[in-house]
Amino acid sequence: MFGGFLGAGILKKAADKGLVDIRVHDLREQAEGKHRQVDDRPFGGGEGMVLMPGPVCKAVEAVRETAETPVVLLSPLGRMFTVDMAQAWAGCRQVILICGRYEGVDERVGLHLATVEVSIGDYVLTGGEPADMVVIDAVARFVPGVVGKAGSVAHDSFAEGLLDCPHYTRPRVFRGHGVPEVLLSGDHARIERWRRRQALAKTLALRPDLLIGDRPLSAEDRVLLDEIRKERKES
Ligand code: ADE
Repeated sequence: MFGGFLGAGILKKAADKGLVDIRVHDLREQAEGKHRQVDDRPFGGGEGMVLMPGPVCKAVEAVRETAETPVVLLSPLGRMFTVDMAQAWAGCRQVILICGRYEGVDERVGLHLATVEVSIGDYVLTGGEPADMVVIDAVARFVPGVVGKAGSVAHDSFAEGLLDCPHYTRPRVFRGHGVPEVLLSGDHARIERWRRRQALAKTLALRPDLLIGDRPLSAEDRVLLDEIRKERKES
């Protein structure tokens, strides 16, 4: 599953440049017995198979470089994955992601091995691989040099606690829908202000919860927000 994901696009380029080094480890390499079993039936009975703690622990211990390495268990029971986690892990020398599978992972993995349990959303995937890919991608974008211009990460949605502003490209008119005049004006100060205002307006309309987070707004942002709120009341 990871071959296509890691073998193309921005992540492949980043790996080729030595900016990231993403390794996939097969739990079976750490499993014992003729069948290299990594899962077993649940104690107490019930459906499905549970990943055994032994192979998971051994796999982590085989690659963990220091006690500081975050060991992340991907699971729908975890804390919601956020941009702050992505940014923090991008600064780590190593991050280990444990990919859940089948009906579940033995509880002792979450209790005694993982340093944090993380979910990518309120839904259940058949396997943890897509969740791992989401985390890998979001973390890699914060590694300096992975995304072309540093500016494009800085202005992304959530990076500053706001949604991103709208973007337009050619043609100037598409099926009767034009482009905001300011973007064609060449006036960079006006364009910057418009973009900031749009980001604030979009956030207020779509994700007001982000504005009551713990990131204080600048005085300029507060002025823009007041303007937006007034406009909304008037319309
Ligand atoms: N594995 C299955 N569902 C998941 C989710 N929502 N987040 C992280 N890992 C998962």
